[in-house]
Amino acid sequence: MDSFAFIIHPIDPKRDVSRKYPLLGRILNERFINFGSTFFPPLLLSEIEGITSKLTGKVLKGWLIACPLTAARMLELNERIAYHKIIQTGRLAERLGADILGLGAFTSVVGDGGISVADALDIPVTTGDSYTISVAIQAVHKAAALMEIDLASSPAAIVGATGAIGRVCAQLLANKVPELYLIGRDIDKLYSLQTDLQPNSKANLIVSTDLLDLRNAKVILTVSSAVHAIIQPDHLQPGSVICDVARPRDVATSVAAERDDIFVFDGGMVDVPGPVNFNFDFGFPPGKAYACMAETIALAFEGRFEDYTLGKDITRERVDEITQIATKHGFKLSGFRSFERPITQEQIDKIRKKARIRS
Ligand SMILES: NC(=O)c1ccc[n+]([C@@H]2O[C@H](COP(=O)([O-])OP(=O)(O)OC[C@H]3O[C@@H](n4cnc5c(N)ncnc54)[C@H](OP(=O)(O)O)[C@@H]3O)[C@@H](O)[C@H]2O)c1
Repeated sequence: MDSFAFIIHPIDPKRDVSRKYPLLGRILNERFINFGSTFFPPLLLSEIEGITSKLTGKVLKGWLIACPLTAARMLELNERIAYHKIIQTGRLAERLGADILGLGAFTSVVGDGGISVADALDIPVTTGDSYTISVAIQAVHKAAALMEIDLASSPAAIVGATGAIGRVCAQLLANKVPELYLIGRDIDKLYSLQTDLQPNSKANLIVSTDLLDLRNAKVILTVSSAVHAIIQPDHLQPGSVICDVARPRDVATSVAAERDDIFVFDGGMVDVPGPVNFNFDFGFPPGKAYACMAETIALAFEGRFEDYTLGKDITRERVDEITQIATKHGFKLSGFRSFERPITQEQIDKIRKKARIRS
């Protein structure tokens, strides 16, 4: 039977350690978990059951495995040490017999975006970023429609625009909106991105390192690799839509608590085909997965056991191809969730009404 493995790691250290070790998660503080994660070995979390292609009926074997490093620790450590731990986790996937390995969250962000990890392993590797881009853009379109926002006349913004995912999302949105803010930390990288994208963009591209510029945008896609939330309630205009693809999240929980006139949701969530049981709670309801996991699974359905999305230069061709592969096997954009809770149509209607009063 064809198979895959997918690496996850602690994103919110206390909460995620509690999912596997409830007592440790309760008694250890975040600093200790960050530091201690360096000395923990990779772990087999679960065997995944029931994933079945809608097209072919093919059933796959899969495993969730954990790289113990937290996001903060991966950024603090020397890249080689982080790679070493991710490669050790990949070796576990090899021993289990996986035919392909997906890199979740920061295991695909750190350093060269999976290239060194793939070079060291004997099985093919993908970051899942191509399908993440596709699903994020689909979600932005759907959310804008639900909020009655016409993309063709609404300014938009990408936070983390110079990153692997942000760059292609910017390229795709730049043909849909009249004005696109490219937001990041490094102004030189932002100008260079603007120069690359402007010739083929309908939108006027504006670069900024100031998150207050988000107040000019009606639609926001945020995908930075910040370790803590960066988008606060006062950065946003009433009635805006924010698709938060970043893990850890870019949007502060205070946005949900204080702004009932904003539609903020978790980007990158899809419905998985078949009666799937992940046998591990990674924070999603049953039957749903991150788009990056879905890319790994879709490649296994298709028998495409090859390094697929690697590095920081993702192409639109790969995004289009994986969208077609994933769609035919039955993956689809999931309903909306915000900070672990589903968002209903009724709530979206309320957000729209509040926004109308305040704008
Ligand atoms: N939901 C999903 O299914 C899914 C799948 C894959 C990845 N992800 C998440 O997506 C995010 C981005 O991944 P990536 O591979 O695109 O990472 P990346 O290539 O490292 O890009 C991240 C971008 O964020 C910028 N950035 C970092 N800290 C920032 C800050 N404090 N303020 C503003 N910008 C900041 C970086 O700018 P500099 O150049 O200045 O560093 C860079 O442009 C990560 O959180 C990852 O976990 C989610």
